[in-house]
Amino acid sequence: MYVCLCNELTSGKVREVVAAGARRMSEVYRASGCTAKCGICCRTVRQIVKEALDPHARPGVAAEARGRQPHAGALSLAIRGAG
Ligand code: FES
Repeated sequence: MYVCLCNELTSGKVREVVAAGARRMSEVYRASGCTAKCGICCRTVRQIVKEALDPHARPGVAAEARGRQPHAGALSLAIRGAG
């Protein structure tokens, strides 16, 4: 699932770079060859990193995001901006 539309970054890619050694959000973006732009995805990316590093972490935003349409927050902003 896409978690960052600005960079076409998926939750799978985030988990992949964490498995390869990324430990911080900035390291995830760097390892993915991008940087945070609008920042809407930061909370979700941070939560995915946390959950990937600690299998006992309480499922949070990332688990919720799995059940939502890709990047619902950005879509909501786009709709509000269009009105
Ligand atoms: S959605 Fe990730 S930087 Fe904009």
